Amino acid sequence: MKVLVIGRGGREHAIIKKIARDNKATQIFCAPGNDGMSEATLVPIEETNVSELAQFATDNQINLTIVGPEVALMAGVVNEFNQLGLPIFGPTKEAALIEGSKAFAKYMMNKYNIPTATYGEFTEMEEAIAYLKNQSMPIVIKADGLAAGKGVVICQTLEEAESTVKEMILDRKFDDASSKIVIEEFLEGEEFSLMAFVSNKIYQAMPIARDYKRAYDGDLGLNTGGMGNHSPHPLITDADYEEAIHKVIEPMTKAMIAEGIPFTGILYAGLMKTTDGIKVIEFNARFGDPETEVLLPRLETDLTDIMLSLLDDKEVECIWNDKATVGVVLAAKGYPSTYVKGTPIKGLENLIDVDICHMGTKLIDNQISLNGGRVLFVVGCGDTLEQARQKVYQEIEKIDCKDLFYRKDIARKIINS
Ligand code: AMP
Ligand code: GLY
Repeated sequence: MKVLVIGRGGREHAIIKKIARDNKATQIFCAPGNDGMSEATLVPIEETNVSELAQFATDNQINLTIVGPEVALMAGVVNEFNQLGLPIFGPTKEAALIEGSKAFAKYMMNKYNIPTATYGEFTEMEEAIAYLKNQSMPIVIKADGLAAGKGVVICQTLEEAESTVKEMILDRKFDDASSKIVIEEFLEGEEFSLMAFVSNKIYQAMPIARDYKRAYDGDLGLNTGGMGNHSPHPLITDADYEEAIHKVIEPMTKAMIAEGIPFTGILYAGLMKTTDGIKVIEFNARFGDPETEVLLPRLETDLTDIMLSLLDDKEVECIWNDKATVGVVLAAKGYPSTYVKGTPIKGLENLIDVDICHMGTKLIDNQISLNGGRVLFVVGCGDTLEQARQKVYQEIEKIDCKDLFYRKDIARKIINS
């Protein structure tokens, strides 16, 4: 079996590592991939070049293509593959709009009674500012379109909120992605991520993971694509898990069918456990990054078996082990703003018994070097979160690079709570 993974980051590396561990595929390709992905053959085609990707899959008789990033989905890679009868696991661009437009996601949640924060949607600055004046602070302002996990600002004061609206709508901070914005009630509670393998009405939920979005310890600094993650999440009970599945995942899969855009792929719900029940913060139409890196080491079932069965509309059983995983991002100094590039990373060969997923690295003069905001993701595994946490932090210390930084508090509060 030949598998093609589309994408270039840590999530795709984790998918590749899982497929390699499953040991079913004779060849794993990654387009475009990165130089740290030693288990795969790199294919120099951009994620959004759907026609060349389809041509590659045809020429190489790829048995399954797995899509990582949302940009490939929104570019219509699944639509193109479906039209040509090429097996691919992911949603069409119409279904991926659940991630591609925050306003569409809110519309769906309201229409189908899926619990979420109250909101308003705006394209005019004056209307947005008038709305803000009647809201309590803090308040959350979101660019409607894709902004690489950076299009959300939590504003503490009205002044901050007004200037954020101006930056997004008037100054077009995220280009077209912020020509429309969503202004949303601030939710408080324990945050968690729940993903499910979905094919039309069949869904198979994964265990819970917990993302750490802020750049610095103590949840300080700007929002990022995610700085660390762990699974399981002890503050989310079995009852919470059931509630999330039955009030969020199941109704959304049904809602997509009702709207004529059935969803196949990974449905990701970013959730908050509030005093008023579980509420949705966001939907994504793909594997979370770095949730995937901490979850796939816990999946015992073959990943390609799950996806191929679902593409065949067959129910699947997914078996997860009881291990705990903790993963920590090493980011380039400056991230999530302008960051350093090119510095060599030394010592990676000394890390023992952890997964190293390359998020943004490149070989320069034969040396793995910084080539992205989030650079490496190191995952430790253990019988408990405590063990996994100790393992990962102990091994990370062996990495030698002056231009990398990481959070020291991933999973700390949860273990001590
Ligand atoms: P998103 O890209 O929508 O997941 O937002 C990024 C992060 O901002 C989330 O993971 C939350 O930590 C935070 N956030 C987003 N929306 C809200 C909200 N309505 N209330 C509180 N925090 C939020
Ligand atoms: N880790 C959050 C995301 O993938 O959007």
